[in-house]
Amino acid sequence: MIAWTTPGRRFSLAPTTQGVSLVRKAVIAGNWKMHMSCAEARAFADSFRGQVENLPEDRQVVIAPPYLAIPTLSEALRGTPVAIAAQNVHWDKKGAYTGMVSAPMLLEHGVTHAIVGHSEPRKYYSETDEQINLRARTAQIYGLIPILCVGESLDQREARETERVIHRQVEQGLEGIAPDRLIVAYEPIWAIGTGKSCAAEEANRICGLIRGWVGDPDVIVQYGGSVNPATIDALMAQPEIDGVLVGGASLDPVGFGRIVNYQVPVGVG
Ligand code: PGA
Repeated sequence: MIAWTTPGRRFSLAPTTQGVSLVRKAVIAGNWKMHMSCAEARAFADSFRGQVENLPEDRQVVIAPPYLAIPTLSEALRGTPVAIAAQNVHWDKKGAYTGMVSAPMLLEHGVTHAIVGHSEPRKYYSETDEQINLRARTAQIYGLIPILCVGESLDQREARETERVIHRQVEQGLEGIAPDRLIVAYEPIWAIGTGKSCAAEEANRICGLIRGWVGDPDVIVQYGGSVNPATIDALMAQPEIDGVLVGGASLDPVGFGRIVNYQVPVGVG
């Protein structure tokens, strides 16, 4: 793969199943899950600011704090290139949905991205592909970029169902979704929070399949699952991996700083 950088944009001639990409820019996202109070988010931002002062132009950084910490983090990171994501978004703009948060509420606080279909709400709150699709559609209607998470369980991988499961999640999750304002994150469930990262070559293979199924060579496809400062460079050297979704390792400003400042050898990535 050939890559070169001009200010503000990474151009890469990435061979994909669908053609050649000219515009993909890496997106490094942190998912804080149910961690970080407002005070902790402020302390994180104080330390993390310095890590993004000289952030290369070929990448974007996004952090998804808990809803309550969104205003604090958004304010504390003002003036930095860090964008703010929500960890989920409801499909309706308002209504009798106790405990939920809508897209207009998020927009009021400068949120630009929303994670949908993460394996934890799929598992703990029984979210279906149909609901996830509605969330993604609503996100796009309001101008939020959905980060659709897909991935197989260990049982599914061992039963050789990985491709079938992810294909279904992509097909159903993205029905009616515009591929140009979208991120898909390949997150094998067995790699999330386990310390067992998927091998970079295998993550690359699945990300390439996902890009082909989405049908747009420019769609951003991330890898997620136990990404850490020691694994980031090898992952980002893969041609089909355009970024990462990081859980545990995004809670440490220094470690996450190393991740967002990943280094890929010249001519690769
Ligand atoms: P992890 O989580 O990096 O802690 O494995 C990833 C995720 O759930 O997005």
